[in-house]
Amino acid sequence: MAFDVEKVRAEFPILGREVHGKPLIYLDSAASAQKPRAVIDAMTRAMEHSYANVHRGLHTLANETTDAYEAARRKVAAFINAGEHEVVFTKGGTEAVNLVAAGLGASLKSGDEIVISEMEHHANIVPWHFLRERLGVVLKWVRVTDDGALDLEHFQSLLGPKTKLVALSHMSNVLGTINDAKALARMAHEAGALVLFGGCQAIVHKPVDVKDLDADFYVFSGHKLYGPTGIGILYGKAEELAKLPPYQGAAR
Ligand SMILES: Cc1ncc(COP(=O)(O)O)c(C=O)c1O
Repeated sequence: MAFDVEKVRAEFPILGREVHGKPLIYLDSAASAQKPRAVIDAMTRAMEHSYANVHRGLHTLANETTDAYEAARRKVAAFINAGEHEVVFTKGGTEAVNLVAAGLGASLKSGDEIVISEMEHHANIVPWHFLRERLGVVLKWVRVTDDGALDLEHFQSLLGPKTKLVALSHMSNVLGTINDAKALARMAHEAGALVLFGGCQAIVHKPVDVKDLDADFYVFSGHKLYGPTGIGILYGKAEELAKLPPYQGAAR
């Protein structure tokens, strides 16, 4: 079936406006996507119809809001083939990586190694730098080849008994490179390391099955996936999430 541009544009109310006297053409979706009518309507309905605290009240609105929140969690879980208890809502992709870094940091020590790559987004670099500064963890960087791929031989050479975590982009926000996440996870696991994928870009462009990839952690954000800003997803294997200490104290 032919791609009907006008039909797709019509889903996005903002594309009805003009900028500099011309119809808006928006090409910055990798940074943040515009919102389709279905998302705007769902958010408006939530605010107008049944807004309350989630998991913190027993009245009708609180129950409806909590049900909607948990239904969203089940939807996300089904979207990536995860168990619903393996989906953690965060404030964004950046916070999801920070949550894992804070949690793993509790069990890492000086000299332990984390492998990242030269094609990572800052969100998948800075949290690991903090561990380096705080704990003396060593960061190892996988090289990127001249044609924009991960250098797999170099990756293999960086893996060893001290590697505790491999944190790599599934799809690069700079190069568009799609990494073979399944192969990368296999290599990381053979070295005894956990693997985290930054999925902010891949989740928009391809089906993601976290079980098939055998990812220990997989993170992405809502606002690049046509959802509201201020939402991120951390997928973690149930047994790996269970090992993480509490990230924040909370009012309940
Ligand atoms: C690859 C990648 N990782 C992480 C992030 C950060 O996500 P968030 O804005 O949800 O914190 C972005 C957003 O620019 C991204 O493109």
